[in-house]
Amino acid sequence: MTASIGRVVVLLGAPGAGKGTQAQILSERLGLAHVATGDLFRAAVRDETPLGVVAKGYMDRGELVPDAVTIEMLLERLGQPDAAAGILLDGFPRNTAQAEVLDKVLADKGGRVDVAPYIEVPEADLVARLGGRWICRAGGHPYHDQTKPPKTPGVCDIDGSELYQRTDDRPATVQARLRQQLGALDAVVNYYRSRGVLRTVDGRRSIEPVADDLLAAIAPATGRRN
Ligand code: AP5
Ligand code: MG
Repeated sequence: MTASIGRVVVLLGAPGAGKGTQAQILSERLGLAHVATGDLFRAAVRDETPLGVVAKGYMDRGELVPDAVTIEMLLERLGQPDAAAGILLDGFPRNTAQAEVLDKVLADKGGRVDVAPYIEVPEADLVARLGGRWICRAGGHPYHDQTKPPKTPGVCDIDGSELYQRTDDRPATVQARLRQQLGALDAVVNYYRSRGVLRTVDGRRSIEPVADDLLAAIAPATGRRN
């Protein structure tokens, strides 16, 4: 683990709300490491590591992976050098137990969650977004058939790798993810609201205006520790 940590932004949103899309923009603009637990799990599944073998069944059923496994993986990631300058969390925490652990880990490093922007999107839009999504093999960069097509079909604009559809984006698994995970998301939203760091952003608009609103919400909260 690194001895200290910089700014910490927790990007919240339901499955398909646009966390990965926005995290890519925000992490670059703000100079934060993009830490996405879903991406870490997908890499572990691809590499068939012991962690990947455990995680796969939960992910395929649309369930959360158990906290112990998830937290251990996150701690390992936070110990990497790029995290010291500050992190943008995407997909963590997913329940209040994870949120409490995060607070404790950050406090031990003299840090805290500076701001938790919440991308709010209605459920019907989530289903449409996940149904049309493609992501790239190398970096997990997200695209969409209608709203964000790649310049060359089937190829990532950023790293040139092949695009594929996530197995958990099949309609039955999308329904399971929403059914099983939206309640826990509500609890996390309330957790950060009660701590005064929640900033809700209307996620129904196109990618650029949502990014502008997120930047406006994040800047005042993180500026003091730049
Ligand atoms: P994870 O990978 O985190 O998936 P998720 O939370 O379900 O979110 P998604 O990645 O599906 O959506 P997103 O919000 O990133 O949207 P995106 O930007 O791609 O987790 C996967 C699984 O891993 C979980 O189900 C669980 O099993 C496990 N897991 C992960 N973290 C865990 C944890 N902490 N604890 C336990 N288990 C964990 O956008 C979606 C689509 O919409 C794209 O096609 C995009 O192009 C399009 N789009 C984006 N923004 C817009 C917009 N403004 N307008 C129109 N289209 C848009
Ligand atoms: Mg994502």
